[in-house]
Amino acid sequence: MVSNLNKTKSKNPTIPITELERSAFCQEETELESKPLFEEKKSKVRWQKIPIEYMRLTPDELDTRIAHSKNILKEKLIILGHHYQRDQIIKYTDFQGDSFKLAQYAASLSKKEYIIFCGVHFMAETADILSEEHQKVILPNLTAGCSMADMAITEDVLDCWEDLNDILDHNKITPITYMNSTAAIKAICGENQGLVCTSSNANKAMQWAFSKREKILFIPDQHLGINTGKALGMKPDDMIIWDPFKELGGNTINSIEKAKLILWKGHCSVHTRFNYDQIKNAREKFKNINIIVHPECTAEVVEHADFVGSTEYIIKTINEGKPGSVWGVGTEINLVNRIAKQHPDKTIFCLDSLVCPCSTMYRIHPAYLCWVLESIEKGNIINQIKVDKNIIHNSKIALNRMLKLN
Ligand code: 13P
Ligand code: SF4
Repeated sequence: MVSNLNKTKSKNPTIPITELERSAFCQEETELESKPLFEEKKSKVRWQKIPIEYMRLTPDELDTRIAHSKNILKEKLIILGHHYQRDQIIKYTDFQGDSFKLAQYAASLSKKEYIIFCGVHFMAETADILSEEHQKVILPNLTAGCSMADMAITEDVLDCWEDLNDILDHNKITPITYMNSTAAIKAICGENQGLVCTSSNANKAMQWAFSKREKILFIPDQHLGINTGKALGMKPDDMIIWDPFKELGGNTINSIEKAKLILWKGHCSVHTRFNYDQIKNAREKFKNINIIVHPECTAEVVEHADFVGSTEYIIKTINEGKPGSVWGVGTEINLVNRIAKQHPDKTIFCLDSLVCPCSTMYRIHPAYLCWVLESIEKGNIINQIKVDKNIIHNSKIALNRMLKLN
C-alpha cells in the first residue's frame, strides 16, 4: 500500500548535520565542562540563534536563573533528559532515561503543561505524539537533530517501500523503524502494519513482525538491524542492505526475494567510531575487563563484547558490577564519564580514547534551557515541537504497538 504521506511529504524538520559538525566537539581531554555559550559557539557547528544576553551567562548565573524559572513554573513543568546529555543539563532534569523509558514516561505526563525535552529532535517529536493536545513539548535548541535519523528521508523510504511491494507479493513485509527516525517515517510504519522499536526492544519487535509476515524492512540503523537479526539466528545471506542512493537499493530482484531482513543503510557516527582493536587493547591492558557496548556499534564490536544493550541497560549492568570490576564502554562519552564518576570503586572508561560527544545532543547548552524557560514565564512559547496532524495518527499507532510489546 502506498502511504497517504505521499500527499503530505514533510520537509525534513531538522538541519541535516554535516560531516564536519559530527566531530566538531571531539577533543583530547576527558573533562567536558560547559563554558559560556559564546565560547562554545566558536566550534564549527550551526547553533540556533539565541538572544545575545544569554550568550555570556556564566554557569552560576544560569544556575540561579534556571532554578528561579523552575520554581515559578513548578507543577506545570517537567524537564526530561536523555542519558547522553551533558552533566550541566542532567542536573536540571526531573527524569532521565533511554529513548524507550523517556517515551513511556512522556505518555504518562498528562498533568504537565510544558514538557521540556533535553535530548534530540526525534525524541521530542515522540513525546509530542504520545502527549495530549493541551501539552506543549519544547526542544531547547532546534538544531539538536540526529545524524542517523537524517539518513532516512520520507521520499526515499516511500520509494523503497513502493519498490519492495512491486517486487514482493502483497503483505509479505513489515516495516520497523528505530525510534531514531522522523515522525513521518514512524507514520509510514504505522500505516503499513509496522511498528517502532528502540535499542531495548528491537529483538521483541522483530519477533513480533516475523510472527505476522515473512520479511522485515528495518529503518534506519543497519547495525542495530544486523545485531538484532544475528541474535535471532539469522545468517549473513538472510540480510541485505538497502542503499537509498542506488537503484533497488543496490540489490537484485532475486536477492530481495531471498532476503528475510532488508536493512536501511544508516548508521550512528558516534557508535561506529568503536572498533575491534580498541577492545583488543583494553583486554590486553586489563585481564578481567568487561566490555559493554550499545547495539548501534558494528557487528564486529558487538561480537567481541561481553554485554550489549541500551543506555539504560548499560547503566544498570555497571551499577550491578562488583566493587573493583573493570568496564570498557562503547557508548557516548557524557554517559560514560557520568557512570565513572558515580562509581569511584570501579574502573570505567570509554573504549575510544578521543573524546567525541554526540554533537547534536551536546547542542543543548544550559543557556538554551534558560532561554526557553524564561520565555514560558513571559507567556511566549518558543521551540515547541508540533508534529503535523496528518502524521500524528499513524505514528501513534506504530509507537503504541511498540509500547504494548513491553
Ligand atoms: P537509547 O535508546 O539506548 O538511549 O539510545 C538512543 C540513542 O540515540 C543511542 O545513540
Ligand atoms: Fe543520533 Fe548517534 Fe547521537 Fe544517538 S548518538 S542521537 S544515534 S547521532
